[in-house]
Amino acid sequence: MKKILLSLIFLYSISSLLIGQTQAGLQKDILISTGTSNVDLVYKVNGRDGRLYQSYIGAKLGNLLSLNQIRDAGHLAYATFGTDNLFEPAIRMTHNDGNPSLELKYVSHNVEKPNANITITHILLKDPEYPVEVTLNIKSFSAEDVIEQWVEIVQKEAKPLTIYNYASSMLHFDASKYWLTQFHGDWAEEMKMQENELTSGIKILDTKLGTRAHMYQTPVFFLSLNEKSDENNGELIAGTLGWSGNFQFLFEVDEKNSLRVISGINPFASEYTLQPGKVFKTPSFIFTYSNQGKGLASRNLHHWATSYGILDGNGPRMLLLNNWETTYFKFDEPKLNGLLDDTKKMGLDVFLLDDGWFANKYPRNDDKAGLGDWQENKTKLPDGLGYLVKEADKRGVKFGIWIEPEMVNPKSELYESHPDWILKLPNRPEHYYRNQLVLDLTNPKVQEFVYNTVDGMLTKNPGIAFIKWDCNRMMTNAYSVYLKDKQSQLYIDYVNNLYNVLDRLRQKYPHLPIMLCSGGGGRVDYGALRYFTDFWASDDTDPLERIYIQWGYSYFFPSVSVCNHITSWGKQSLKFKTDVAMMGKMGYDIPVNELTEKELKFSQDAIANYKRLSDIIWHGDLYRLASPYEGNRAVLMYVNSAKNKAVLFAYTLNARYGESFNRIRLQGLDPAKTYKIQEINVPTEGKHTGGSESGKTYSGDYLMKIGLNAGSSTALTSNVFEITE
Ligand code: GLA
Repeated sequence: MKKILLSLIFLYSISSLLIGQTQAGLQKDILISTGTSNVDLVYKVNGRDGRLYQSYIGAKLGNLLSLNQIRDAGHLAYATFGTDNLFEPAIRMTHNDGNPSLELKYVSHNVEKPNANITITHILLKDPEYPVEVTLNIKSFSAEDVIEQWVEIVQKEAKPLTIYNYASSMLHFDASKYWLTQFHGDWAEEMKMQENELTSGIKILDTKLGTRAHMYQTPVFFLSLNEKSDENNGELIAGTLGWSGNFQFLFEVDEKNSLRVISGINPFASEYTLQPGKVFKTPSFIFTYSNQGKGLASRNLHHWATSYGILDGNGPRMLLLNNWETTYFKFDEPKLNGLLDDTKKMGLDVFLLDDGWFANKYPRNDDKAGLGDWQENKTKLPDGLGYLVKEADKRGVKFGIWIEPEMVNPKSELYESHPDWILKLPNRPEHYYRNQLVLDLTNPKVQEFVYNTVDGMLTKNPGIAFIKWDCNRMMTNAYSVYLKDKQSQLYIDYVNNLYNVLDRLRQKYPHLPIMLCSGGGGRVDYGALRYFTDFWASDDTDPLERIYIQWGYSYFFPSVSVCNHITSWGKQSLKFKTDVAMMGKMGYDIPVNELTEKELKFSQDAIANYKRLSDIIWHGDLYRLASPYEGNRAVLMYVNSAKNKAVLFAYTLNARYGESFNRIRLQGLDPAKTYKIQEINVPTEGKHTGGSESGKTYSGDYLMKIGLNAGSSTALTSNVFEITE
């Protein structure tokens, strides 16, 4: 991509003219506008003090003259600590002479335009007394209305200095009220939504898990301004941090009811030594602004994510049969050959062999041993992975494999041979989680080991077509032998070195599909997803629970990235399970040989339907029509960009006596087009309800103003409609 460096002298002089406040002896004010198609984020350099302020964030301004009318609220764009700021700073450091303050003044800015859609603005700030430079970077994606912000800090003092706070982004809002929506959870109960009004003082969303961002809190939020927003109404931003470790979103409402939002790596126990000349680069804070509710915000993020946030987000995906819940650790070659047959029989693309295939001295027959010893187990796989790749090939399907290369069981050869490669505290007993410990990725030898584990396996077996990369624990025992007296850098160096390993692997294997897993959905963030094609959303595959979990993810992550498998969890019908899995990236983890003939036929047909419609589900526009948080049903639909094809999913969660659901108004269609409604995934046996609209034809106008009778009033039933112009 050709980078065009645009001088902003023109904007500089125009904006100075516009502001018209320049006085003799003072510098001119400078406006720096960093908008997208529908959003403006505007900064102003105040000529009187040389500092950079945030002037405006919100809907696109008709012209910059409007900014003259805005009362200057004095919102520092990147507030420092130690001079006159009395609220939470974006950055705090101690210089090597012990001075604990930082002052930042504007120096210059420039704009890069890598292509028509992307604009990157770099604003250079500097301490007038100390050789410390801070560059604010703002990357705007015009068509998607998404903005990415990150910061680079460089110091040129003679000796190292220490930074304590180093936010990726600081944003200010002036609204009458603020409503924060957050997503909390735990293992098997990810993405539970809560919404609360922010009151004076500080509210923090964060995690301190080390190896992953997500588990108890997901690194995402909605912030609604003035009033609560719903799917189609309300002003809000949707924000997320691209970082697979400790994160922090801090919301501070001050005495004037102004809100500052500070997003970045969690500064908790993470002071960082900055060596002279070294650049400290923060991860990206990614956000969109919408004045048409959460629905538009999600679609903006989905569009951004498929093009820029997820590896090959616009590309196709292969459908999996996984063996985890079918076999757990108990399998051998004949059993796996049977599962390869099943993959073919179902019409799926890849068989994914999960945990349990490796280690010999301490065989991986449960989760207590073997992790770290990545050689095929000779009893279970006497002919090695190569044999399975060939067997898959014979059947016209692909072979994929599970790994967890960042971890080790104490009962392993790796633990015995490299105790210094493992995070554990001196003078303390080892603390286990799932009987395992974390390898010290800050150590270059460990980075090499992780890289070689994956690369070695792929070099030996080039036919491996899919990987599931797991990370089954968070960091306790957080002590690195390698880091010596720099222990507080562990949380940051771990994640950056994980990214370095992934960068190397992606240079060699740019498009190999890899699913990101972390004991279920423990590592769902856009820092990691640059390297991964999809993620395992939760170990909880009960379809009723999944409706809520998937609903939660759908606010921030496109369905092409959310792996939903049909499993034995939950007592609902196979149809209900299938319909729930279909709203994302569908896969299977059931004993196919136990399906009745009718169930097998139903599944084969459903897979064929899914393959026909998956492009619309993965890359179409999502409209959430009825929320499971607000009633007894969940309804959503995807529409393709030509608006000639849509898929609607309706799930009835609970049925109260006498409750009947009204018609649901569809969205995103073309009012002038006529659509045929066709129910799909109709079971060949069992009671079926709610498909009365199948076969009918309506105008888009009718469907969007009057609506469709979608779904039934029987609990735990579902209906899927294919809607075709
Ligand atoms: C984690 C994953 C599961 C499975 C197991 C294997 O819990 O979330 O899907 O891969 O590990 O041990």
